[in-house]
Amino acid sequence: MRVVCIGAGYVGSVTGTALAANHHHTTIIDVNQEKIERLSRGECPIYEPGMETLLPTLIGKSLFATTSYDAVADADVIFIAVGTPSNPDGSADLRYIKQTAEQIGKHLSGERFTVIAMKSTVPVGTCQWVTALLADASGLTPESDFTVVSNPEFLREGFALEDVFFPDRIVIGSVHPQGLSTMRRLYQGVLDRSGYEDLCQHFSFSYDLAAPPAVYFETDTKSAELIKYASNAFLAVKISYINEIARLCEALGGNVLDVAAGMGLDSRIGPKFLQVSSGGSGSCFPKDTAELLSASEKVDSELMVVKAAVASNERMHQYVVEKLERRLNGLKGKNIGILGLTFKPDTDDARRTQASYIIGKLLEEGAQVRVHDPQGMGMFRELNPDMPITYCTDPVQTGQDADAVVLLTHWSMYQEMDWQQMAGMMRQPYLLDTRNFLDASRMRTCGFDYQGLGVAA
Ligand code: NAD
Ligand code: UGA
Repeated sequence: MRVVCIGAGYVGSVTGTALAANHHHTTIIDVNQEKIERLSRGECPIYEPGMETLLPTLIGKSLFATTSYDAVADADVIFIAVGTPSNPDGSADLRYIKQTAEQIGKHLSGERFTVIAMKSTVPVGTCQWVTALLADASGLTPESDFTVVSNPEFLREGFALEDVFFPDRIVIGSVHPQGLSTMRRLYQGVLDRSGYEDLCQHFSFSYDLAAPPAVYFETDTKSAELIKYASNAFLAVKISYINEIARLCEALGGNVLDVAAGMGLDSRIGPKFLQVSSGGSGSCFPKDTAELLSASEKVDSELMVVKAAVASNERMHQYVVEKLERRLNGLKGKNIGILGLTFKPDTDDARRTQASYIIGKLLEEGAQVRVHDPQGMGMFRELNPDMPITYCTDPVQTGQDADAVVLLTHWSMYQEMDWQQMAGMMRQPYLLDTRNFLDASRMRTCGFDYQGLGVAA
């Protein structure tokens, strides 16, 4: 099939690549010239494991990248995968969706029936609104010349290829027969896993090809739009909950690692998303929970659980700062090393991370901060240009004359670094591991006063 994917970000570049690997003639369109040039050279514009090997095998063959919308005219399916950031009041800012829809409308030819598939995370009713925009801009007849379907994306950064090739579910929101049959045909390769043996060579993971295939789930458009927000909010609740239990473990005594493991053995609860952190963050959960809360308030149907989870998550960021403050008898004049600026490992995405909140608070309290991240320093610096912090290319250097080092993101490279050297460079070798990621006894042998979160000291 002929496919267009609009947006070459974390979702669009991976989705476009996966569709091309599934033998669809795919064109990725973005307004960002630099991203398009990188894609055209076979380079991924974002850091996502596996893309560096898969993308060069497809570019110029089944995958193309351009700033021009011309490919829209003869597309069977057009994915919209542009950003939907937050407005100041928390609601989703749909300006990129609007611009994209207007451009698509201008380029739709009406020569063939086209499905516009909404992959961006958008508020309930957006597909309906986009349908009207497209009709206005194209002069074509909705549901006869084109249809808009909701096809929310559930990929996780760092595991994006695994998630698009082996999704748990594919959700399609539409009641249009041709829209539904087109989408089913498009995803047939993912459902059959055709050609996957060869494809798996490009992945940094091993996958059991005998594992159950994706569930293909069709529903109406509004329900599909809501499934996306309701899922993200539910995951955010789960994280806040285990982090609250971690705080309780510290107050009462108890080990949150064992508590989470014991809870996760109940198949109704499950072991996933019970890892303690300094609070979840990133480009999605904060903005999606904010939009869901904003939408629910507008219709007087308050989501009290989600509201509490958001507040609890912010409390967790603050809890880490307070723990440090207590341990160091104040933060003024203290040197703090930070390991990890991205919201999770295996991504360069530093949008709305725990690190920006926690570092901001440390600076406010008068501390000096040295930071390291293997992939995220570029974006973090761009997003926080005025933050007076020292960027270190070697993680060990964050420990220079430090009173404490805080591990915020559990990059695997932090397992391997020279901890003994770091302990020797510090003013006081206090190490706070907010992910309970490092081996406590090894860290103590290296000379650290080591603490995790929610784990008895
Ligand atoms: P992103 O910011 O990384 O990428 C968006 C891209 O769209 C940018 O490259 C931008 O230049 C481009 N763009 C903006 N306006 C355009 C236009 N008019 N024409 C062409 N290109 C345009 O965003 P992202 O993280 O990929 O997220 C995209 C959407 O997918 C969001 O709604 C997000 O909530 C959702 N989502 C993201 C993830 C994730 O892990 N990042 C996962 C699931 C869903
Ligand atoms: C999340 C969802 O997991 C995806 O399904 C969804 O598609 C995506 O948002 C989106 O809509 O953009 P992502 O933001 O990439 O994916 O990252 P997650 O793995 O969900 O982690 C989010 C945050 O929660 C990170 O800061 C992570 O470290 C934290 N987290 C996650 C925890 O603190 N504990 C956990 O057990 C899991």
